[in-house]
Amino acid sequence: MKAVVCEAFGGSEVLAVRELPDPPPPGAGEVQVRITARGVQYVDVLMLAGKYQFRPEPPFIPGSEGAGEVVAVGPGVTAFKPGDKVMCRQRLGAFAERGNVKAEDCDLVPARMGLDQAAVFRNVYHTAYHALLQRGRLKAGDRVMIHGAAGGIGLPAIQIAKLYGAEVIATASTDEKRGVCLEEGADYAISYHDGFRDKVLELTQGRGVDIIYDPVNGPTFEESLRCLAWSGRVLILGFLGGAPAMARTNYLLIKGIEAIGVRIGGLNEAHPEIAAANIKTLIGLAAEGKLKPRIWRRFPLDGAAAAIQALIDRAVIGKAVLIG
Ligand SMILES: NC(=O)c1ccc[n+]([C@@H]2O[C@H](COP(=O)([O-])OP(=O)(O)OC[C@H]3O[C@@H](n4cnc5c(N)ncnc54)[C@H](OP(=O)(O)O)[C@@H]3O)[C@@H](O)[C@H]2O)c1
Repeated sequence: MKAVVCEAFGGSEVLAVRELPDPPPPGAGEVQVRITARGVQYVDVLMLAGKYQFRPEPPFIPGSEGAGEVVAVGPGVTAFKPGDKVMCRQRLGAFAERGNVKAEDCDLVPARMGLDQAAVFRNVYHTAYHALLQRGRLKAGDRVMIHGAAGGIGLPAIQIAKLYGAEVIATASTDEKRGVCLEEGADYAISYHDGFRDKVLELTQGRGVDIIYDPVNGPTFEESLRCLAWSGRVLILGFLGGAPAMARTNYLLIKGIEAIGVRIGGLNEAHPEIAAANIKTLIGLAAEGKLKPRIWRRFPLDGAAAAIQALIDRAVIGKAVLIG
């Protein structure tokens, strides 16, 4: 099979397309999937650089989300059969033509959803749903600010916050990205490079927002805290802005603020039953047409390096997908 291999730690240049043996038959509890679409995630960028919490040693096949057709099932698997179309979560290995995946990490693709959309659905929508509804306790009428809103986990957060009745202020760096945020349902889309607190207070009549969904952190974190209303929650999802910020805890005290960590991998490990119920809800919403991944560009599998570079360059709006 063809696979994309990370051959050393670094940027997109460390990826090489190689011919490798097919995986062995699936083991107990596994299915073998002929993968035809994979999502490209910022987590892949961190893993190639050796900067992710989980640090596989090269050589390894990156990629932790994909979709395709089941070609074989291992002992004990009853939920799937050959020919089923599935979306899967993988620890590694999605940037290949085949992979063995735990059956519990697979879900049937709903009717009317293409495999390209299925490949990028699960991780980002689950992250946004868990963050906003379970960690952030979002309720109708809440005001939510979403940083990195035009990114992979940003656009699903806009869709979910709107679906559950919130008012959304999206932040993004370019007119094009802000335009997409508005198309996806944000009530307002603002720049955050030259400060955003005054604008947020103006848009909320001086009150501030109830929830901040923040994959950026770093130098913008303190200003984010100053945008929160009384008993606001800041959801910490990532550190794209650089080193983790040192929070001024007096800000938390004065406004009764909660700073809340969110890690979807942690939920999957600690509470697989909650994760499974969440995915079921989300797939139901997608089947009803209420959630729809936005694909920015489709690259061939050979184009993985270009897709990763586009993510590093902050060119991607929504999701990049590797097809074939
Ligand atoms: N906690 C969790 O469970 C969880 C789950 C999934 C992902 N994540 C993390 O969330 C973060 C975002 O992931 P993603 O897949 O949405 O990434 P993405 O598609 O690359 O989007 C990130 C967005 O953040 C903004 N950004 C701000 N500073 C940036 C920087 N220095 N470099 C790159 N982008 C920057 C960019 O928008 P502008 O150009 O508009 O600023 C970009 O659109 C990553 O750190 C990822 O590891 C966390």
